[in-house]
Amino acid sequence: MDLTQTSDLWWKTAVIYCLDVETFADGNGDGCGDFVGLTQRIDHLNRLGVTCIWLMPFFPSPDRDDGYDIIDFNNVDPRLGTLGDFVEFIRTAHDRGMRVIADLVVNHTSDKHPWFEEARSSRESPKRDWYVWRDEPPPDAEKGVVFPDKEKSLWTRDDKTGQYYLHRFYKHQPDLNVANPQVRDEIAKTMGFWMELGLSGFRVDAVPFLIETTGQDDAAELPEPHDYLADLRAFLTRRNGEAILLGEVNLPYPDTMRFFGSSDGVGDELTMCFDFIGMQRMYLSLARRDAEPLASALQERPEPPRDAHWATFVRNHDELTLDKLSESQRQEVFDAFGPDPDMQLFGRGLRRRVPPMLGGDMQRIRQVYSLLFSLPGTPVLFYGEEIGMGENLEVEGRLAVRTPMQWTSGPDAGFSTADPSSFPGPLVEGDFGPQNVNVEGERRDPDSLLCWMRMLIERYRECPELAWGDYEILDAGHRAVLAHSCRLDGSTILVVHNLCDEPVDATLTLDGATELTELLRDGTVKVGTDGKVQLSLEPYDCRWLRATG
Ligand code: GLC
Repeated sequence: MDLTQTSDLWWKTAVIYCLDVETFADGNGDGCGDFVGLTQRIDHLNRLGVTCIWLMPFFPSPDRDDGYDIIDFNNVDPRLGTLGDFVEFIRTAHDRGMRVIADLVVNHTSDKHPWFEEARSSRESPKRDWYVWRDEPPPDAEKGVVFPDKEKSLWTRDDKTGQYYLHRFYKHQPDLNVANPQVRDEIAKTMGFWMELGLSGFRVDAVPFLIETTGQDDAAELPEPHDYLADLRAFLTRRNGEAILLGEVNLPYPDTMRFFGSSDGVGDELTMCFDFIGMQRMYLSLARRDAEPLASALQERPEPPRDAHWATFVRNHDELTLDKLSESQRQEVFDAFGPDPDMQLFGRGLRRRVPPMLGGDMQRIRQVYSLLFSLPGTPVLFYGEEIGMGENLEVEGRLAVRTPMQWTSGPDAGFSTADPSSFPGPLVEGDFGPQNVNVEGERRDPDSLLCWMRMLIERYRECPELAWGDYEILDAGHRAVLAHSCRLDGSTILVVHNLCDEPVDATLTLDGATELTELLRDGTVKVGTDGKVQLSLEPYDCRWLRATG
């Protein structure tokens, strides 16, 4: 395939890197990360091979949900810099050939947002209808609470006006009423504003909650929620033809598919949806050392519409949710990777990063990322994954994995010149702390995780078959082996992973090739005349091979 053809749908071969400005790098020495610091460190991302940076919320916020509680959608939180600093950062990213997207958190605002303060001031307030109110909570008000450690209901009584308001998340995050045309206009204006400043789209927070209208008295009369999502996409594309919506939709596959929209199989709602199911099944496969759970997820996973794609990840900024596994499957993953109750969160997820979960076993850690970059879908990295950072369980809840980025081995991790006590949160300690895990050291060490990650990204970018091709799960004759092929325009990549801690001889059948060339190491493998390929796999082996002949 001609690689130039892939550039219009750039996001299909992108490498997305999620970071929080607050914890990435401090440029002004006050202890808090900021846009100046991020801009100074941007070449690290460029060298790694990142093509798109996803910024977690950087808007003015009382910071009661790490910035996901916003008081002004069209500004930069002063702790992180100014709009001018933001523009300098965007310009520098573009100069390095990287696009930037940002979180669009419009399911709710902070309760300190002037809109909510006005809305709650009286039942007659012109902004009253910008939020969702009821005289009494509905009978199922307790169902679906997202943060069960803090909240018991989705509805909270506002004393002054005696009505209940809806909040899908914390009670300090009242839900906006997106059925209100003025709210829709404000959301569009915000999207337009940031695109004008250079964003190439958004990671859309909590999409199913954003568009839902259940619980609203007049839900039946409201427009179809998916039409609204299609409207958002149309607006986005009118303003910027290359912009994307990457949606957080954690639902079973058939339900998630609805969020891609259709319009005759092209896709007219979200450009990409995270593959939450594949992620969870991967961990089950790793825990069992059995390829079946992951293989079957990939087989069940529907094809997105033509101009849409799955986004894959093995870690994100939230708890590593295992909510779509059965109770006993979830327990298997807990037992393997987070047995201590303190490592678990909300009864459904883990607040750990990959390297500690895998006991620091480099072969296994490398393999997880080989899976990430070779399985079909656009890979999304969470900052620090590229160097193998761990978590700090002393830090509360989900913040355990949002510790400052580790640049050097110094006591301040090269994050800031200020005293670590003024950092947004404590650093990681111990084996995965800055002393052992940092960018500076790994850049110089060819055997480091960072160098492995760079190679994976380089190969992934060189093999558009992985992103664009038709994939097939192959039978490798051993339950611990996951094998898949990706074919595009007559060209084939074969990928084989041995998920167990023992050597395995795998036999596969591949049509139409006489030889395979190793892509992650030197060497070739002959294909028999009957199409049979014999591979001797080391424990936790990762093999990417290109078929020739
Ligand atoms: C999403 C975010 C999460 C945040 C929540 C409320 O689920 O990923 O971090 O707390 O939305 O905005």
